[in-house]
Amino acid sequence: MSESKITRRSFLKRAGAAAAAAAAPISLVEIAWGKSDARNFTFAYISDSHLTQIKGTKFVSNFDKGLKRAIAEVNFMHPKPDFVVFGGDLAQLGKRAEIDHGLELMSALRAPVKWVVGEHDFYLDMGEYWADKVSPLRYSFDHKGVHFVVLNSILTYEDWIRKWKTPEERMLAMARLDNPQGSPFIVGDEQLRWLRKDLAKVSSDTPVVVLSHSPLYKVFKPWNFWTDDAEKVQAELKRFRKVTVIHGHVHQVLYNQIGNISFYAMMSTAWPWPYPVSYTQVPNAVPKLTVFMNRADPHSERDGTGWGWLDLDSGRVNMHYELWENTPRTVRFDASRGHPVDTVYQDPAKRIPPQEHY
Ligand SMILES: [Fe+2]
Ligand SMILES: [Fe+2]
Repeated sequence: MSESKITRRSFLKRAGAAAAAAAAPISLVEIAWGKSDARNFTFAYISDSHLTQIKGTKFVSNFDKGLKRAIAEVNFMHPKPDFVVFGGDLAQLGKRAEIDHGLELMSALRAPVKWVVGEHDFYLDMGEYWADKVSPLRYSFDHKGVHFVVLNSILTYEDWIRKWKTPEERMLAMARLDNPQGSPFIVGDEQLRWLRKDLAKVSSDTPVVVLSHSPLYKVFKPWNFWTDDAEKVQAELKRFRKVTVIHGHVHQVLYNQIGNISFYAMMSTAWPWPYPVSYTQVPNAVPKLTVFMNRADPHSERDGTGWGWLDLDSGRVNMHYELWENTPRTVRFDASRGHPVDTVYQDPAKRIPPQEHY
């Protein structure tokens, strides 16, 4: 095309492509793909968008913006992620309008999505609309030699489910963080049997990645950072050499190692939760390994939010936290130590001292 024939429209298209190329995180990509193993791949992780309907077609714009920003940034990833995991809590109160709105925003993603259900998506109609319109509540799939299992880890006990007069009351009770009337999450015996059957065909040398919404271990019961039968899930995973659990729900950087299993949490695109110990001043089981995420400005609701991308290197997950108002972090499995390490801050001498607030 000669210069004279470049229309304004085609110029804008070209300029846009150049800007996109400049914005792609080239150096990160080189690290991820440094070793030329065909089995290495990347996927992105967006979680806990909590889209909240105000009325009709009006939604809380701040939460919409968080999800839209994550989607735009994932679309810039180069090479493209093989898929994107949405880690649950797409909606705030499980309304059809919220789930529909979320599906509409997520349709802008230029990669397939693997969906995990959260309690905010579930407790209005016990997952009926989600299962109908979004995704099965539990399933498994294989990708480039890795076995992925998606669990519905936000089930709870029947007595609690039955005690509420209306679905709305039940949803509101489950949506609260510090609710003494709450009920711990479970995976449940029926799903454990399904899991055992699903894993029976997988060899112990196959890397396994489990995607759940709640942590599949016990962090802090009063806030339901907790799965009551987590040990039973861990027992089913015991025979595998490389196992990783990735979860949402806690809205913060958190990682752990229990036996053969590495755990990584994902932040929210909507708001961060504090660490229970810093808020309640009571002891809790935030893993000793975890280097707390310092928030430069706790008064900014964006500080401590973001999304993540992960590369699978020889069957182990390396977690890259893309934090919007905070320092990006990489936590990767260190084979010599047998647990995940923060590549910059694991050494106590290198940590940023915690802020003091008055
Ligand atoms: Fe959440
Ligand atoms: Fe949640």
